[in-house]
Amino acid sequence: MSTDLKSKFLEVYHTLKSELIHDPSFEFDDNSRQWVDRMLDYNVPGGKLNRGLSVVDSYKLLKGEELTDDEVFLACALGWCIEWLQAYFLVLDDIMDESHTRRGQPCWYKIPKVGMIAVNDGVVLRNHIPRVLKKHFRLKPYYVDLVDLFNEVEFQTASGQMIDLITTLVGEKDLSKYSLSTHRRIVQYKTAYYSFYLPVACALLMFGENLDDHVQVKDVLVEMGSYFQVQDDYLDCFGAPEVIGKIGTDIEDFKCSWLVVKALELANEEQKKFLHENYGRKDPVTVAKVKELYHSLNLQAAFEDYENTSHAKLIKSIEAHPSKQVQAVLKSFLGKIYKRQK
Ligand code: IPE
Ligand code: MN
Ligand code: MN
Repeated sequence: MSTDLKSKFLEVYHTLKSELIHDPSFEFDDNSRQWVDRMLDYNVPGGKLNRGLSVVDSYKLLKGEELTDDEVFLACALGWCIEWLQAYFLVLDDIMDESHTRRGQPCWYKIPKVGMIAVNDGVVLRNHIPRVLKKHFRLKPYYVDLVDLFNEVEFQTASGQMIDLITTLVGEKDLSKYSLSTHRRIVQYKTAYYSFYLPVACALLMFGENLDDHVQVKDVLVEMGSYFQVQDDYLDCFGAPEVIGKIGTDIEDFKCSWLVVKALELANEEQKKFLHENYGRKDPVTVAKVKELYHSLNLQAAFEDYENTSHAKLIKSIEAHPSKQVQAVLKSFLGKIYKRQK
């Protein structure tokens, strides 16, 4: 991604923000305008921006020639809608997961003045998306499909978050229900659709395509998104907080992480018993012991193995696609995340 495109992308953020804080449907005063302004700056643009930039990237690859200024703006605006969606989910996710930091700073709800106002800020972030779509896309032939796409994907993500959360309490901490198939269902819904399918689907719609004709693309992207969430699970424990910008809480939260599923698969009876008794406790000493067990089971090697196998499979499915442009879109996305450290 050229620095030029990234700075263009950030420029569009400022345009969209300015429109949103001057939205005539609400009588802003200085206080409310400043609140939204700060809330957006804190939560929307500080990530890797992979999802948002991928819309522009994908659209370019589909078109295969120079974009007009108007096309660049629209592709960036769609990219930002995904970043807004992500910000909305993350603000609420951090409350529910009792997280501490995100993108190298305290989680938004952790800011003393913010606290549970963050819940409503999440709702506000969510409401910004249809406002951007209406302002910039309402006359486009693909407008209805775009709104429908965001609705579908939001529903899938919220449902994925729901199963992520309720598996941690059903039967009060029962590890025996944690399997690769449970894990697969959670990550496909909570992460893959919005992070991988959505950016490419946005580019396809802008390019005039009918999404019903791209089921194969969707399947590859959902697979890629699941691989991405396995990486996220791995980094939660083995990543450096300074690099990933967040402190892991999956062990404390009794999450159905890829690591605990793999650990249960590799553990002997004694180690299994240890996990059943200690997984999901807040005490830092216990958390450290769970991590020690992960090390002794050599989960790093198991993950490396998974990563290589998964990558090879993805490349194979991508190369089976008939269109070279689509192959380029998918390979470009995969290249952004393969062996990522953050
Ligand atoms: C949350 O998954 C996915 C969504 C925000 C929809 P995680 O709970 O694993 O995400 P992190 O690790 O807190 O970023
Ligand atoms: Mn989380
Ligand atoms: Mn995580």
